[in-house]
Amino acid sequence: MANSHFGNLGDVWKHLVLAEVLEREPPRWYAETHAGSAAYPLDRDPQREFGIWRFLAAAPRSAELARSRYYAIAGSCASASPATYPGSPLLAMTILGNSSSYLLCDLDPGSVADLRSWSRQLGLRNCEVAGADGMAAVAAYLARGEGRGDGLVHVDPFEPDAAGPGGASALECAAEIADSGSALLFWYAGPDGVPARLRALTDAPLWCGEVTVVIRDASARNVRRSGTPGVVGVVLAHVQPATAGACAALGQALAEAYAGATLPSGQPASLTFTGRWLAASGRT
Ligand SMILES: C[S@@+](CC[C@H](N)C(=O)[O-])C[C@H]1O[C@@H](n2cnc3c(N)ncnc32)[C@H](O)[C@@H]1O
Repeated sequence: MANSHFGNLGDVWKHLVLAEVLEREPPRWYAETHAGSAAYPLDRDPQREFGIWRFLAAAPRSAELARSRYYAIAGSCASASPATYPGSPLLAMTILGNSSSYLLCDLDPGSVADLRSWSRQLGLRNCEVAGADGMAAVAAYLARGEGRGDGLVHVDPFEPDAAGPGGASALECAAEIADSGSALLFWYAGPDGVPARLRALTDAPLWCGEVTVVIRDASARNVRRSGTPGVVGVVLAHVQPATAGACAALGQALAEAYAGATLPSGQPASLTFTGRWLAASGRT
């Protein structure tokens, strides 16, 4: 398992949005460049206390969060024995089942084995798992003309500028996907202007939803040191306005659910949410 951050606040926001988009606009095919494992053994690590455990405790008090498919799936996994956390591929497999085909990529052999095992367990008929650079694999898939407009690609790198063995960075790959007309979910952490940088690379319609951890007398950098990212966001391309609106309502509800929260370091913390369409770049 290469992804030790599963179930943290960044995952909660990303997966809340992913499940909402898949429910509202089920794609004919679904691809992940950085899939991770299908599921993870769920413990009480401080990152996950501030992430999935707080979310599961607070969601029943919020009509918006309680109705989400993410809450239903993550809650059922957490209360199973042994408790697990569903990664993005398992959320997609559970929501879409055999009505979609899949291309799931990861460089980590353990993640690849877990993805194959879950795909078999769920009886998926059309699920390709590639132990390869996901950015190159998805670019080849699009170039072959297999993915045309009616699919969704989830690009979820640890770093937006990290290039895979195939050469392209995650941000460049995301722009190519958006330009192809496919729907995109791109995840990022940190206040580094990632949405504006993606905006400059593509003319596709982009919506951005960002959650910021706010603590008194501390910068986002300090929050990050405590094991929780200070800013976590998703950029969506080619989604309907109603879908973006529903994601914004979830972001607002998430911020409200974290009133009075405590960071893993013990400091009181709250969340703010902003959701916005990114104005066209005017590229020529
Ligand atoms: C943040 S985790 C993925 C989490 C998962 N998408 C989720 O939301 O549950 C990032 C994953 O990317 C994988 N990875 C890193 N570079 C890669 C590349 N160039 N191609 C495919 N996978 C890569 C790592 O092995 C790791 O499992």
